[in-house]
Amino acid sequence: CDTRASLYGQYPFPVGVALRTNKLYPGSPYQELAAGQFNSVTPEYEFKPDALHPAPAAYEWAAADALADFCRQHNQRLHGHTLIWHQALPRWITEFAGSQAEWDALLKDHIQTVCRHFRGQVSSWDVVNEAFEADGTLRSTIWLRHLGSGYLEKAFRYAHEADPDALLFYNDYDLESNPVKRRAVLSWLQAMRQRGVPVHGLGLQLHISIRHPENSQLTEAVQAARQTGLRLHFSEVDVAINPLNQAVEPTPELLQRQADKLRFLVGLYQQLPRAQQHGITFWGVADPDSWIRSYFHRADYPLLFDDNYQPKPAYCTLVRP
Ligand code: XIL
Repeated sequence: CDTRASLYGQYPFPVGVALRTNKLYPGSPYQELAAGQFNSVTPEYEFKPDALHPAPAAYEWAAADALADFCRQHNQRLHGHTLIWHQALPRWITEFAGSQAEWDALLKDHIQTVCRHFRGQVSSWDVVNEAFEADGTLRSTIWLRHLGSGYLEKAFRYAHEADPDALLFYNDYDLESNPVKRRAVLSWLQAMRQRGVPVHGLGLQLHISIRHPENSQLTEAVQAARQTGLRLHFSEVDVAINPLNQAVEPTPELLQRQADKLRFLVGLYQQLPRAQQHGITFWGVADPDSWIRSYFHRADYPLLFDDNYQPKPAYCTLVRP
């Protein structure tokens, strides 16, 4: 197939991609696919605390603003990622030796400065990312250790105060494959809502593989998440071909299994009520851009376009719904 049709044009909900500012050279295949195929963007790195907030009183907006400009030029929605996380922290925060009140002030300053800066450009935020462990307990992050479990609720309230129009999300991984973690996250979200905390959506990252999880597990997870009534974002989708520690080449058979897996996932998403569909976001444009290669140091082919930025069976399947 070719890329004359746009992927987002095939669906009634936004279809997004994670982008890096430093790869957006005008005329490059990366730039052209980013602008032509997707109508929502999640910053892959530029909005993380170590990129935006390098020193206590210093914010660095240039790369993030360039990405926001790109979205404006191409009429793309900008989904902010991420205000609070245990990773991508600047060193000064990891070494911050403040009292509880000073940690609270730091949490508030970071969230509100960033939300205010992008007010009107960012329409939704991942406020907290990956706060739960696999066993359903809260992860012992720097925020939890200094502020207790109340930091979660505070993060959402501070974000809402700074930008009352933005939709606020909790985002996490393995919710599709780990029912223990999923139940913990869903009941925490329920409790937040009952207490009137401004949380509007749940991001299921969905870093999955052609082998795992089974389609029946995906169905079960999406059904359970749907019951919350929250907006759902399939927020960081990729479908790995290789198991950990292995790196086989992508055969036509494997690429077809990848396409089938994605087709199934998108089919599930299409069954959600429109009001709950925040969109589906792919975690990168083409295979060379995937975080899996750099982060796990293994060859893999998890995205919609190949090493030459040509459409793969996964793309072709999705562009013909
Ligand atoms: C990853 C980026 O893709 C990498 O470029 C970066 O080095 C590390 O972070 N879950 C998340 C994302 O929520 O922010 C991560 O992104 C991938 C896992």
